[in-house]
Amino acid sequence: MLRINTLGGYFHEYQKSVSNPEDFWSDIAQTFYWRKKWDTTLEWNFEEPKVEWFKGGKLNITENIFERRMFTHADRPAIIWESNSPDEPSITLTYKQLHEKVCQFANVLLKNGVQKGDRVAIYLPMLPEATIAMLACARVGAVHSVVFAGFSANSLSDRIIDAECKLVLTSDGSYRGGKNIGIKTIVDEALERCPTVEKVIVLKRTGEAINMTPGRDVWWHDETEGVSTENKAQEMDSEDMLFILYTSGSTGKPKGVVHTTGGYMVYTQYTFENVFQIDAGDIYWCSADIGWITGHSYIVYGPLLSGSTVVMFEGIPTYPHVGRFWEIIEKHKVTHFYTAPTAIRSLQASGLDPVTPFNLSSLKVLGTVGEPINVEAWQWYHTHIGKGKCPIVDTWWQTETGGMMISPIAGITPTKPAYATLPLPGIQPILVDSEGKELKGNGVEGNLCIKFPWPSMLRTTYGDHERCRQTYFSTYKGLYFTGDGVKRDEDGYYRILGRVDDVINVSGHRLGTAEVENAINEHPLVNESAVVGYPHDIKGQGIYAYVVLEKDGQSHDKDAMKSSIISTVNKIIGPIAKPDKILIVSGLPKTRSGKIMRRILRKIAEGDGSNLGDITTLLNPEVVEEIKVGAGL
Ligand code: WT7
Repeated sequence: MLRINTLGGYFHEYQKSVSNPEDFWSDIAQTFYWRKKWDTTLEWNFEEPKVEWFKGGKLNITENIFERRMFTHADRPAIIWESNSPDEPSITLTYKQLHEKVCQFANVLLKNGVQKGDRVAIYLPMLPEATIAMLACARVGAVHSVVFAGFSANSLSDRIIDAECKLVLTSDGSYRGGKNIGIKTIVDEALERCPTVEKVIVLKRTGEAINMTPGRDVWWHDETEGVSTENKAQEMDSEDMLFILYTSGSTGKPKGVVHTTGGYMVYTQYTFENVFQIDAGDIYWCSADIGWITGHSYIVYGPLLSGSTVVMFEGIPTYPHVGRFWEIIEKHKVTHFYTAPTAIRSLQASGLDPVTPFNLSSLKVLGTVGEPINVEAWQWYHTHIGKGKCPIVDTWWQTETGGMMISPIAGITPTKPAYATLPLPGIQPILVDSEGKELKGNGVEGNLCIKFPWPSMLRTTYGDHERCRQTYFSTYKGLYFTGDGVKRDEDGYYRILGRVDDVINVSGHRLGTAEVENAINEHPLVNESAVVGYPHDIKGQGIYAYVVLEKDGQSHDKDAMKSSIISTVNKIIGPIAKPDKILIVSGLPKTRSGKIMRRILRKIAEGDGSNLGDITTLLNPEVVEEIKVGAGL
């Protein structure tokens, strides 16, 4: 794999990737194992949109993880798994062992009727079996749809229904800190409205008593018993679907972002190796959950394609103590650590006492992802975790981009706190103003778009191509619109400013304000609501909900109403969407055409009751004063 070693080398590669993208990516793609070489490197237009990379190429991504490297990598550790409990021994799987388990489980999928193109939902805790499940799907050509195991039954069933999944892979329960979550019970509830699901394969983790529906539910250990560990991988076209991953947008229900095989493979390995500057023997740990794109691209595919060793952690940063992350780094001699700013901020808030007992000298590179990192958190991470010697890669990307887009190359790109710095090779960012006019040169701020395709970009949104076009390709003609605002400073460095649409980023989790409003509105005593983000010290953004109650609700105790609204949101989306603040109001500020004036609500949520602009044209200007008072302004 082509490896960037110097800043000059980066500029050289970048130039090549822009002046001749097809040659640039062909050279990289050639280092993979293709059963048949592709016919065309790239076909695209951003109008439909249509994007096809390495079309006609035949391959299986798991052959590129396993068979391609078996001669040299068989005994290398692939996964080092760390339990939720420090008392439970960790598990190491070598590439050979992982290969056998993936092949065996691929055979189990086949035995259970899974065929190429079928969709399989994965709702599992952070266990090696989650990786095995994903790779086994890829092995047989099934499309995995991983659902974060913190989502509610309702969110799970929405996703299963949308993708028409045939099979669900799950566990009896899941350990998260001091809690034991009944995963299977959630699946049972979800499946009450999922007619397409024929089978559920259940992994035993907690050993608690669960319901097993005869004819539908089978045990993972029973199914694998005596099954061959050899499996011939299904042949896929480069543009065959690899997976669907649901993500929130500014409107409607979460959409299924579709990634395909060849381009995603090439791009995730390329960016993983270059951004992190991974060498043989390194121990890489990404603390994300496999339910998010970070887990897909940089716990599973990127690292394993590159033959690296990945630490996988079942638990949470604060259990059984707030130094757990640092303890794990010492225990496994982690060299590369990749986490979210929200985790850094919350651990920073606990001070240095939990950090100092641990030896962090193995660390070489630190990374962050998911939300803007503030300068203080960046400095703390750099000084106290990296001891001033580890470069930080602040990687900007999205579920839709499949891989990192704007990021330093560790130790090579000079960094600036809070800046994602420069685009990676192959990425052509462009800033536009609200009219879509390009903002050229440096020292500008605008909406971040990408003007040329890269191999791991989304191809469609599952079952609704028009929605994909509308959401990403229609705002600015001929451009992919990211939804983010960005500043390009005098040095040409990029700083991500945050979302400019109705998407909020809470602890690095992406939520649509409309999605949270719809959940709140499900409460029988709620008439309507408006949700906005506000700055939150730890979470980056918090959720502020303005709620108008039905007449019958107005006589209820306000605190009781608030907690009952929170449980509604937990039930409909999951605990990650629970509002931090709820303000019960008698009305929402609206324009004469009935549109909620979110700008005003955002200002108030930020704690700024002045400069609300002209409110005299509102339908109901009087509620603004009431809301201000309610918010303590
Ligand atoms: C949104 C995408 C990419 C994996 C995790 C999130 C924000 C992501 C950064 C960063 C500032 C960032 C953006 C983006 N974001 N990385 N380094 N600096 N903001 O994936 O759930 O699809 O969310 O996260 O707003 O649009 P996602």
